[in-house]
Amino acid sequence: MSSLSSNYLLLAVSTLSSLVASAPQHARDVQSPYAHSSHSIELKSIKRITSEPFKDATSLHARSSQQTSPSNETVHILGHAPLFAAPVTIGYQTFNLLIDTGSADSWIADSYFSCMYGVYPMSQSYCALNSTFVHDDGLSDSVTSATNSTFFVNYADGSYVGGPLRTTYVSMTPDLAFSQLIGFASTMDFTGGNLTSGVLGLAYSPLTNQYPGTDIWNSRPCYWESPDVVGSQGNPDVPCNQRNYVGVMQSFMSLDSFRDRQYFALALSRDSSNNSNGGLLTFGGTPDYYDAKVNVSSPFVSTPIEPLAFDLKNLTRYYTISVEGFSFPAFTNYSTATTTSSYYSNTDLPSTHRPLRRTTTNQAYTMSQTDGKSQYIVDSGTEITTIPTVYAAAFNSLFDPPAYQEYTDGLWLLNCTTLSFVPSFGVTIAGQTFYHNPEDLVIRKPSQEYDYDLEEYVDTEVCFSAIQAASELGGGYTSNVLGQPTLKNVLAVFDVGASKIGFAARPYYES
Ligand SMILES: *[C@@H]1O[C@H](CO)[C@@H](O)[C@H](O)[C@H]1NC(C)=O
Ligand SMILES: *[C@@H]1O[C@H](CO)[C@@H](O)[C@H](O)[C@H]1NC(C)=O
Ligand SMILES: *[C@@H]1O[C@H](CO)[C@@H](O)[C@H](O)[C@H]1NC(C)=O
Ligand SMILES: *[C@@H]1O[C@H](CO)[C@@H](O)[C@H](O)[C@H]1NC(C)=O
Ligand SMILES: *[C@@H]1O[C@H](CO)[C@@H](O)[C@H](O)[C@H]1NC(C)=O
Ligand SMILES: *[C@@H]1O[C@H](CO)[C@@H](O)[C@H](O)[C@H]1NC(C)=O
Ligand SMILES: *[C@@H]1O[C@H](CO)[C@@H](O)[C@H](O)[C@H]1NC(C)=O
Ligand SMILES: *[C@@H]1O[C@H](CO)[C@@H](O)[C@H](O)[C@H]1NC(C)=O
Ligand SMILES: *[C@@H]1O[C@H](CO)[C@@H](O)[C@H](O)[C@H]1NC(C)=O
Repeated sequence: MSSLSSNYLLLAVSTLSSLVASAPQHARDVQSPYAHSSHSIELKSIKRITSEPFKDATSLHARSSQQTSPSNETVHILGHAPLFAAPVTIGYQTFNLLIDTGSADSWIADSYFSCMYGVYPMSQSYCALNSTFVHDDGLSDSVTSATNSTFFVNYADGSYVGGPLRTTYVSMTPDLAFSQLIGFASTMDFTGGNLTSGVLGLAYSPLTNQYPGTDIWNSRPCYWESPDVVGSQGNPDVPCNQRNYVGVMQSFMSLDSFRDRQYFALALSRDSSNNSNGGLLTFGGTPDYYDAKVNVSSPFVSTPIEPLAFDLKNLTRYYTISVEGFSFPAFTNYSTATTTSSYYSNTDLPSTHRPLRRTTTNQAYTMSQTDGKSQYIVDSGTEITTIPTVYAAAFNSLFDPPAYQEYTDGLWLLNCTTLSFVPSFGVTIAGQTFYHNPEDLVIRKPSQEYDYDLEEYVDTEVCFSAIQAASELGGGYTSNVLGQPTLKNVLAVFDVGASKIGFAARPYYES
């Protein structure tokens, strides 16, 4: 999940050139700059969430700072992004925490928490948490100490959470235990899908949220985005009371045992077997490349982690990288376009990019590199990969039947029953194109649709493309995200020590 603010604007058009993908190599040929670690943590996942609050479709995009009320559309998509969870011990209790590289606050639900839907109080079960932190044994309390401060986070999908910050012991693997500020959530609009009890925020400390006192509603975040990007919300002169603290990731990166290996590796799994396989998370090393669940098939390339170009303070908060372009089938003939069912306008694209009939060969689309406008946040908590509108429209017109939008700027939807062709899609990073397994390019979810005759919601299924248009942020920037669809096709090494992310391809593996 990303807590990036967003408004709406336009986006720069890019140039077209050709790129040559590196030839895939067998896993045994992989030359690795990283150490192997035997302490991989097995992640659990859930694919389908069936008893969750409704979230409207647009909420999958980056948030605005204002809370949004539930919207009026006839199609609602149930639930949040699929959750990838790791067991984390806090005090003496072990919890499944959602692994999120797009936020930096780590928190656990306190047993007395209030569950909310927007501003409406609900029963605790509505938040579907797996378990909560219990105080009554006294033992766990003895290893936590109160601070006179709170945390409060708004996530991109409209959920929020807050509560007191306490210092406590956190441990994840035998070589990874440390004292850490953790949020003990007392109020939330959040759903754990019965799998998670909180979030492990693995982004950088400048993204953390600490506020003085005990009232979570007294939180006034300090905006750091250029006012062009977030409009009036970005006024840096508005008094704020936010402070930062050292987050979980930077705490363990400073442990002696990680001095020479300040990185963690993430191999998310698509769970083809439906056995809750979430993949592997490895601190201070990488998992075995030859493990059938990893099955790396290309050399590593790496690319620098950058501050967002519109960050007024030029700080590294997210795992942001520059992407060179995409690869998907080319188009041939404008007049045979079959996109009449969508709001897509052919004239939005340069003539060379218009959605015509697809060809069988892939074409490389290279983005302009200027002004940081091809920056992407690598986010394990976002269900979709978001790319600039023109590319998303072009790619999504290549499905057969083509993806369509029910309303302008909405999700690119697919017809679950008639879908017969999934185009190939690759992201080019540091000269290497990472193709996505077709299984990861179509997202299927249970949903409910309003039946005007019955005057009630009826159960149905909704399908949508994993590649969606990024929200426009202002100033020509868009909230580009490499989310779960991309992360399920790579072994990503978040090399904090070297300020780089290393990627190796793994489109096929046992899951
Ligand atoms: C979560 O657990 C509750 C209570 O046991 C149950 O009613 C609900 O169906 C479960 N939800 C999911 C998604 O399993
Ligand atoms: C919600 O739907 C009602 C009835 O169709 C319509 O009158 C109203 O304008 C809609 N509200 C919004 C915010 O779209
Ligand atoms: C919590 O998650 C575990 C999987 O780690 C699952 O077996 C258990 O049923 C869940 N508990 C609840 C109350 O949902
Ligand atoms: C806690 O913090 C608040 C806000 O800064 C302050 O007004 C209050 O005096 C503090 N209380 C204690 C016990 O330190
Ligand atoms: C996993 O679930 C999906 C969707 O329900 C289904 O299409 C697929 O066949 C299942 N796979 C296995 C191995 O059961
Ligand atoms: C921003 O910080 C990066 C290092 O993180 C540095 O290379 C760059 O020059 C800085 N840019 C500005 C405008 O200060
Ligand atoms: C596209 O197709 C139309 C009708 O089939 C044809 O007249 C036209 O020449 C084609 N254009 C190109 C660029 O191939
Ligand atoms: C999918 O296509 C079928 C056949 O054209 C159509 O009957 C159905 O309404 C479509 N479904 C949706 C959700 O558009
Ligand atoms: C590993 O990847 C190769 C392609 O690089 C594929 O042929 C093979 O089936 C994969 N192994 C597993 C266990 O999925």
